[in-house]
Amino acid sequence: MSLTNRQILLDNRPTGEPSVANFKLVETPVSALADGEVLVRNHYLSLDPYMRGRMNDSKSYAQPQPLGEVMIGGTVGEVVESRNSHFKAGDKVVGMGGWQEYQRVDANQRGVLQKVDTTHIPLSAYLGAVGMPGVTGWYGLVKIITPKAGETVVVSAASGAVGGAVGQLAKARGCRVVGIAGGPDKCGQVVSELGFDACIDYKAHPDLKSLSRALKEACPDGIDGYFENVGGMILDAVMLRCNAFSRIAFCGMISGYNGDPIPMTNPSLILVNRMKLEGFIVSEHMGVWPEALKELGALVATGQLKYRETVAEGIASAPEAFLGLLKGKNFGKQLVKLV
Ligand SMILES: NC(=O)c1ccc[n+]([C@@H]2O[C@H](COP(=O)([O-])OP(=O)(O)OC[C@H]3O[C@@H](n4cnc5c(N)ncnc54)[C@H](OP(=O)(O)O)[C@@H]3O)[C@@H](O)[C@H]2O)c1
Repeated sequence: MSLTNRQILLDNRPTGEPSVANFKLVETPVSALADGEVLVRNHYLSLDPYMRGRMNDSKSYAQPQPLGEVMIGGTVGEVVESRNSHFKAGDKVVGMGGWQEYQRVDANQRGVLQKVDTTHIPLSAYLGAVGMPGVTGWYGLVKIITPKAGETVVVSAASGAVGGAVGQLAKARGCRVVGIAGGPDKCGQVVSELGFDACIDYKAHPDLKSLSRALKEACPDGIDGYFENVGGMILDAVMLRCNAFSRIAFCGMISGYNGDPIPMTNPSLILVNRMKLEGFIVSEHMGVWPEALKELGALVATGQLKYRETVAEGIASAPEAFLGLLKGKNFGKQLVKLV
């Protein structure tokens, strides 16, 4: 039976805000497998903010996405054909299948495809709470912020895949947890569904003074740990409320991903408050993944860690959904459902 693969390529690079015109949908036939290869039908594609950086041809921690090639992306799916003794048809797998419906992969390459158990954890969660975003939250919180019970931890992009996990992991460690998110709906649900103690709508506080005042009210004992996903004015406001010896995990700075400058206005606070600021890239800490996934998997399987998903339908919807993610249209993990 001949199969057709629908794929999204990066066609050209954006300047500033990306648009759907940067991407191109193509159809290609799926060719026969070679020895060692596996054919996976991707069920879900993960859309993530880091993809915006890969669209640029500039120096970063990772190589740019090549033009004319399938967009990079995490996927979960099912093996439909295998010429590799470690995989059989029907296996559920997670990998970096990219923005396409099928992936043909040499499964002898170490770590390229992992089998997952969907008995207690839904397949899609392996792209979110029990996948890269969950481990990202775990690493920044546990290894950089190192929270102690009774401390106050603040998380920006709190309703997102990473932020939602950070807040719940910090609550489980006995912290007061305050989120920052865009809009009253997201903030309400961050508190009622995800169990944060408070959540500040940064859109209702468009200047530094107002946001800083809101943080003072929500964090009466100051801020001991900050999980940074956004940068810019939000970082400035949090820094004004940080305690001596506070820790900031620099995970993302999404407010600057389209090239807007996001200067830090008061770096002297780092010295005055003897703060620790540390950036990290989760894929450079593969050694902690098993420990992180063990905790995240157990919490999700037992319903103790809640997560949300925003699901776009069909591969053709991926560019639009990705642009929406960069504008905050998602609530929780942004996925594209492919079957
Ligand atoms: N270091 C690492 O290894 C690593 C790994 C994964 C992710 N990350 C980073 O972690 C962060 C969160 O990722 P995620 O996957 O969980 O995404 P996400 O939070 O699900 O989605 C991004 C969110 O960012 C918020 N946002 C967008 N533009 C903003 C702006 N100008 N100001 C304030 N908020 C803005 C939006 O929420 P609102 O509606 O609340 O504005 C949007 O929903 C990103 O910065 C990402 O790059 C880093």
